[in-house]
Formats: sequence, C-alpha cells, structure tokens
Amino acid sequence: MWKRILTFTAAGVLTLAAGGIGYVSLRQPNRMPAEAIQVSMTKDTITRGRYLFTVVADCDGCHSLRDTGKFSAPAVASGRGRGWTMPKELGLPGDVVAPNITPDVETGIGAWTDGEKIRAIREGVGRDGRALFPMMPYQNFAKMSDADVQALVAYMNTLPAIRNPLPKTRLDFPVNYLIAGVPAPARNVPAVNQEDKLGWGRYLVTIAGCGHCHTPMQKGEPLPGMEFAGGEPFRLGTMKAVSANITPDTDTGIGKMSEAEFVERFQQYRKYAVTGVPDVKPESFTLMPWMAFSRMSREELSAIYTYLRTVKPVHHSVETHPVN
Ligand code: HEC
Ligand code: HEC
Repeated sequence: MWKRILTFTAAGVLTLAAGGIGYVSLRQPNRMPAEAIQVSMTKDTITRGRYLFTVVADCDGCHSLRDTGKFSAPAVASGRGRGWTMPKELGLPGDVVAPNITPDVETGIGAWTDGEKIRAIREGVGRDGRALFPMMPYQNFAKMSDADVQALVAYMNTLPAIRNPLPKTRLDFPVNYLIAGVPAPARNVPAVNQEDKLGWGRYLVTIAGCGHCHTPMQKGEPLPGMEFAGGEPFRLGTMKAVSANITPDTDTGIGKMSEAEFVERFQQYRKYAVTGVPDVKPESFTLMPWMAFSRMSREELSAIYTYLRTVKPVHHSVETHPVN
C-alpha cells in the first residue's frame, strides 16, 4: 500500500502547483475523536488477541524483533512489539519507523487510551491526530471486527513493557502531506459469520494482508487485473524471493493444489516449532510469514482456500526462488 503513495507523489506535486500549498498543508486527516472505551481484559479476549497479533494479522512482522538468520525470519518473543526503523534498502519515501507498541509509558504506547489504540489500528490516526503512513495496513485492519480489534488491544495491554526509544517517522515532501487523505473512520464493524465460509475466508485474507505481498506492483500501483497473481520481489541483503501466483490458474497458480495440499503447505512448518527453525539458506529464503501462518487452524486455512478459489485466475508464471 505504501508503494501506492509513491505514485500519489507526481500527481500531488501538480495539486500543490494548482491548489496552492496553503490548502494542502492545512489539510487534516478525516478523523473522529477516539472512542471512550476500555476493552475487557478476560482470559478469552487476551488469548484471541495474542492469536491475532502473532498469527493472523502478523503485527509481529513489522513491530517485533525478528531473527533474519532463520527461515522466514520468525519473531523473537522477547522483542515483541519493541519496534524498529525500516531499512533504507526498502526505498521508502523517508525514514519510516514501526513504533514501539509495548505498554512502556515513555517510549511505547503505555499512556494511550484503548480507544486511541483502536483508532490507530483501524483508522490510521496517531495519538496526536496525525495520519499514519499507510505501510501500517490500517486500510485492511479497517475491516477488523469490533470484537477482534478489542481483543487485540487487550493482548497488547499485557505485553511486557520494553524501553526502546525510536525516532519518529519522517516522510519526504510531499508524501507527508498527501497521506492526510488516507485515514478514514471505521466504527461498529460486526463479526463475520464463520458459517459463511467464503466471507470468513475473505476476512482472513484481508487482515492477513495476502494481497499486499501477492499482487505485483508497477510504479507503486497494484497492477490492475493481477490481484493475487504474484511476482513481487522481496530482498534481504543478497537473498531474494518472489511472491507466488495464488490465483486458481491451473498452470501457473494454485489451481491444481487440493485443499488438503494447501493446508499441508502451511501446517508442514509446525514441526519447526518443536525441532527449532532452521537457518535460512539463499534457496529457502522467504519473507512469507510461514511460521506465523502455520499456526492457523485447518478450518481457517480451508476458508482461505475457499476464498482464493473465487478470485480471477491469472496466467502468470513466477519463479519464487530465483537463482541469483
Ligand atoms: C507492514 C508493516 C506493519 C504491520 C503488518 C503492522 N504495522 Fe503497525 N505500524 C507500521 C508502521 C510503519 C507504523 C508507523 C507509521 C507512521 O509513523 O506514520 C505503524 C504504526 C502503528 C501504531 C501507532 C503507534 C504510534 O506510536 O504512532 C500502532 C498502535 C500499530 N502500528 C499497531 C499495529 C498492530 C496492532 C498491528 C497488527 C494488527 C500492526 N500495527 C501491523 C507498520 C506495520
Ligand atoms: C510479507 C509478504 C507475504 C505475505 C503477507 C503473504 N505471502 Fe505468501 N508468499 C510470499 C512469498 C515471497 C512467497 C514465495 C516464497 C515462498 O514460497 O515462501 C510466498 C508463497 C506463498 C505460497 C506458496 C505457493 C507455492 O506454490 O509454493 C502460498 C500458498 C502463499 N504464499 C499463500 C499466502 C496466503 C494465503 C497469504 C495470506 C494468508 C500469504 N501468502 C501472505 C510472501 C507473502
């Protein structure tokens, strides 16, 4: 999603020239006051929240310390939520920091109300009212049900506070102004009915961000007609992986994969939770969060499979582990 912002840039410069800087710099994100709410801290909500944080919504992926020397760079529990500065090589428009979201009062979000946390997660508005850089996938999390987002916050409230001072995100001009248009209110979101397998699958695919990584981008925009068709490169140092085509195309996608094979493709990695995660090798390098997603239930993976069968098949052959 952040890549889309890069293309806003060219159009944005024109807006500035035409509309005048005054308007743009005064523009405020579309925000409502945070809800006055205190989430219920029961054992069930905390368990559900931990599951969302570490498995389905993979908050770990950006906000926790990760062991990049291991297969799929799994999160390190002792560094959960501590935040970090995004590396320069990602080519982001400025210095982007995934903040410390532990309850540390000084360097984390310990002083925030629960309502402010929920607003940041679903609506992309910071405590101070600023628009968050949409690399934070709040446009997806806007679909998260009230029950789920409250459970998530209940769990976040139980994280050990980690003192980790980080700089604030500093975006380049004019991206810093343009993102003001991205936040949008998201309130009263009902839970999905899990008997509606397709709807549940769509929900899981949305909050897990499958589309972000599996849709190829061109000039910062997702390529129209190529949803879930793969081809986005991911690099770490000299290692490279390319996201797979997960549309139902039978030649180049997952059209020939049975539901059982799909479920096994994920759950095979459960063994590493017991045996230890192996060191990453150039040929096994990936940033697909396999260790997190391997913990999804058979029912969830089955719902995801059901939904992915309904997306448009795209013939697009991808080499996921290219030889460098
Ligand atoms: C793809 C990376 C990514 C993922 C996944 C992600 N975040 Fe973020 N998050 C960010 C970035 C980057 C920022 C800071 C944006 C900025 O400073 O403008 C952020 C900001 C936040 C903030 C605001 C904190 C502050 O101090 O302003 C909260 C709260 C937050 N994220 C919670 C979460 C939760 C909870 C999840 C999982 C449901 C999550 N994030 C998933 C990248 C991510
Ligand atoms: C952070 C980026 C990222 C996210 C998020 C992500 N993927 Fe992936 N995925 C990849 C990459 C890169 C590969 C190719 C390398 C590999 O196989 O691990 C891949 C591979 C796969 C494969 C293997 C296909 C094959 O034929 O071997 C499947 C299936 C898959 N992803 C499904 C999903 C689903 C479903 C989701 C959401 C629940 C998802 N991915 C989320 C990056 C991602």
